[in-house]
Amino acid sequence: MLKSSEEKDGSEMETAKCIDSFTHLASTKPKNYNLPMKRTVRPLFVLLLLLVFIATLTSRSILRRGIISIELETRLLIRDSLPLNATLLKHAAVEIGEEKSRQEIQQLLDGDFASQARHRTFVSWRRFIHHDGDRSFPATLRSPLFYRYWIDFRRVLHDWARKRRFQPGIMNELTRLVKVPLDRFNKVVTDSRDKKYSSCAVVGNSGILLNRNYGSLIDAHEFVIRLNNARVDNYENKVGKKTSISFVNSNILHLCARRTGCFCHPYGANVPIVMYICQAVHFLDYTVCNVSHKSPLLVTDPRFDVLCSRIVKYYSLKRFVEETGKGLELWGSAHEGALFHYSSGMQAVMLALGVCDKVSIFGFGKSPSAKHHYHTNQKAELHLHDYEAEYAFYRDLVDGYTPIPFISEKFKIPPVVMYH
Ligand SMILES: *[C@@H]1O[C@H](CO)[C@@H](O)[C@H](O)[C@H]1NC(C)=O
Ligand SMILES: *[C@@H]1O[C@H](CO)[C@@H](O)[C@H](O)[C@H]1NC(C)=O
Repeated sequence: MLKSSEEKDGSEMETAKCIDSFTHLASTKPKNYNLPMKRTVRPLFVLLLLLVFIATLTSRSILRRGIISIELETRLLIRDSLPLNATLLKHAAVEIGEEKSRQEIQQLLDGDFASQARHRTFVSWRRFIHHDGDRSFPATLRSPLFYRYWIDFRRVLHDWARKRRFQPGIMNELTRLVKVPLDRFNKVVTDSRDKKYSSCAVVGNSGILLNRNYGSLIDAHEFVIRLNNARVDNYENKVGKKTSISFVNSNILHLCARRTGCFCHPYGANVPIVMYICQAVHFLDYTVCNVSHKSPLLVTDPRFDVLCSRIVKYYSLKRFVEETGKGLELWGSAHEGALFHYSSGMQAVMLALGVCDKVSIFGFGKSPSAKHHYHTNQKAELHLHDYEAEYAFYRDLVDGYTPIPFISEKFKIPPVVMYH
């Protein structure tokens, strides 16, 4: 559906990065889910385990917190002390498309739309009227109203581009960046700005959701994240009906904005949207839409985007070497280097890690007996994402002690459960 609409204005390649309503992942052998037994835990860690156990035993807190939390703490300790592969870290830190994207951003800031391939997206954007209250988007780039948007667009884009860098500590800022504005909007008063949601559900769009009735379990979470505007009507007993935020890529807002103005709210106008920018030019949609949104329209912090990108690339590189036996330098050509991108689902899970005390993941994964999406008849996924790599990342989150690359040690990853 997205594809054909993009082909009309010839911008299909440009938006390719953003087309990703597929939050399910390729199949992996089920035996991989039962990891703990297979790991080789070095003698040192066995000793550590024992020490932690004894320490906790003697500290009386065991009476309060029980065996489970001892196990959790032990896992965290192991997670912090196992080494990651330095070669993979080095390669994952290289952003293949960085220089090109820097140039494109500069051209946008200079108002030079014609010199880049993406100008078509921009020009096509004007053909659509934005029903923005009683305001419509001006049809000419030279009109005074456009000029106002243009000034905002430049400012926002400039700030975003300036902030865009690797900063592993960003995980510790997500509560302030996302939860605090949402609490303000929802008029929730908390005793501390660092307080997180007690439990979060990230709901992917895989057809496996149709095999179970997870609806009420999902709704029982304090915070429910849904992805790329997947429908819930008529699927309530499968996917629940509560939506705390709608997590989307900017192409979704762009498409909504072109078709129906800024109304991009299948869950209701009061549900906040958190969006990551997959093309800088989409800041124009953001600028126009932000004004008329009742609920917050938040853009993910570019430092958070960079972190997500590196993590997925690390897993993708690792999988590439393990499965093909080829050198790391060949990864780029196998994965369309510059276009390679994490999925919305992956970033939504990362967001949940940052703002929640406990994370449950639903509707990620695929099964031969399940539809691709629970809500569409789409047959296959596109190949800009390495879902298998993302799946390996989720398994490491779930097992609780495999170290996760690039995330600062100062950030404690909460317990993650995956529902199949
Ligand atoms: C790190 O990963 C690379 C590529 O997978 C591999 O060739 C290398 O042996 C690994 N190094 C260590 C120390 O495990
Ligand atoms: C978006 O809108 C909100 C609410 O009107 C406002 O506080 C915020 O500053 C706007 N963001 C930008 C970048 O203009």
